[in-house]
Parts: sequence; structure tokens; C-alpha cells
Amino acid sequence: METEIAYPSQFVQPSRKIETLNPADHAVGAPFAPLPRSFYLVDPRLDVAQPVATEQEIADTVSSRAKFRVGEYGDPYVADVLRAFRMLRGKKFYLEIGIFDRGNLAYISSLLDPDAVLIGIDVQDDPERDALLRASLKPGQTFHAVIASSRTPDAVNAVREILGSNKLDAVFIDGDHTAYGALADYALYEEFVANDGIFLFHDSVWEGDEMHKGVCDALDEISRVDTIYLIDGANPVRRFCRPLWRDSLWGVVGVVFASDQKWRIGLPR
Ligand SMILES: C[S@@+](CC[C@H](N)C(=O)[O-])C[C@H]1O[C@@H](n2cnc3c(N)ncnc32)[C@H](O)[C@@H]1O
Repeated sequence: METEIAYPSQFVQPSRKIETLNPADHAVGAPFAPLPRSFYLVDPRLDVAQPVATEQEIADTVSSRAKFRVGEYGDPYVADVLRAFRMLRGKKFYLEIGIFDRGNLAYISSLLDPDAVLIGIDVQDDPERDALLRASLKPGQTFHAVIASSRTPDAVNAVREILGSNKLDAVFIDGDHTAYGALADYALYEEFVANDGIFLFHDSVWEGDEMHKGVCDALDEISRVDTIYLIDGANPVRRFCRPLWRDSLWGVVGVVFASDQKWRIGLPR
């Protein structure tokens, strides 16, 4: 008998593995280094994300997320997220697009303001894990689950209603990982982000497969207009750059500061 797959919406695409990485290049930092020095000139707001996460931080975070685990899914990769999310310490309004097991929301709630408002959008309903998440929040924090595709008017309107006149401090775009999905999320939710807010994209170096263009293709387009930085698990924070390999790469948080968005600051004369 076939067992039902938990969260089939996790699998929008088969992954591909093409071994183009030459093992000798690992010695100079492949796949993400070496890069020219100018690539490492980054906004000082990223200073807090520079130190790599310690083994202990990673182990503690993975273990705090264990109770949220779905079926046979393995431990989440958190070394990149841990660095990036330090920028959100003490923030109040947080939106996550693609919330899966709610474990990342539980982790981020530990960093956010005691009265923070967390909003999560996912196509998959999961009242059990919503309850688990709510039980782990600080007493003054609230969580709103929006069950719909993030690129539907219903989802956008739900977020509008929850926020009222408040603005988001951060949005974590981690939904379907296609280029269209990532760019649509950036376009549809930017109006809700405060001028000093932050956009974070997960799997920012995924270039898609035979069927789909990936997040990276969307970021390449955004980076022509708005500056993007990349935070992985091991290297210094750097300017956005497409992977230089054909291998399918995952992880790596892409960061856009709302204050760098051209539509907010106007075009240079
Ligand atoms: C990689 S998981 C998210 C992981 C989570 N952010 C974390 O850090 O642990 C991707 C999630 O996006 C959801 N998803 C896929 N397409 C979506 C869409 N169009 N709108 C909202 N959620 C979507 C899937 O159901 C899945 O739960």
C-alpha cells in the first residue's frame, strides 16, 4: 500500500545533481569562493550576520525544532538562517511565506519582541502544528495562519487585514521556490514592508531545473534594480552573484533592505 506523502506541496520540482564541481576547487572555497574583493563590500547592517553560527547554536536550534518535524523529513539546514535572522532580533511584525512545519516560526519567535505579531502563509493547513507553535510563543506574541497560495488576492488581503496600519519589519520568502513565485511574492508584499524593513529569500541560489526557473533567476532580475546580499553558512556576507556551477545548489539567504528599493527612494536625476 502506498503511504500518503506529508506536504506534497514541498515537491514542486525534482532536484538535479550534475557533478561539475571539481574537488580540487574546494581548496579555494568552491562553490561560493573565491570572489573579487569588491563583492565583499556590504552594508554595515549585515555586520551582525558576519560571524558564522557555532556548532552549539546549530545543534540547539535543530533540537528546539525537533518537536515540529514532519514524518521522515530530516533535520533542517539552519546555518545560513541563524546568521541572517540575527538582524531581526527585537523586531515586531514578521511574515513568513511557506511555513512548512512551523519550526522556523518557533525559532524566530524566540528572537522577536515579546509582543510580536507573526503571520505565516502556506497552501497546506496544519492546525496541529499551529497549536504547537502557539504554545511555544512568548505570552504577548500572536500568530496568524493564512492558508492559501501566497500569490492569491485572498492571501494578500488577509495579510492587509491582519496588519491594519502596521508595517512588516521582515518578510521571509520561502514558498514554492520558482522564479515566478519568488518575484511575485516580492512584488505582492513589498507594500506591507516598512521603509527600514528587510526581505529575506531562502534558497536564493537555486536556479531551477528542467521544468522551472528558480529563486535565483528572480533575484538576478531584482539585483539589476535593488541591491541583494547573500548569507550562506560558512563564507563572509557578499553581493549577490549567480552560482558558477551547473550543480543544483540550495540554501543561502538573499537579503534586500527595503531602504534600498528604488521605488521608495525615487530614481536618480
Ligand atoms: C521549504 S518549505 C518552508 C520552510 C520554512 N520556511 C522553514 O524555514 O522551515 C516550503 C513551504 O512552502 C509551501 N508552499 C509552496 N507553494 C506555496 C505557495 N504558492 N504559497 C504559499 N506556500 C507555498 C509548501 O507547502 C511548504 O510548506
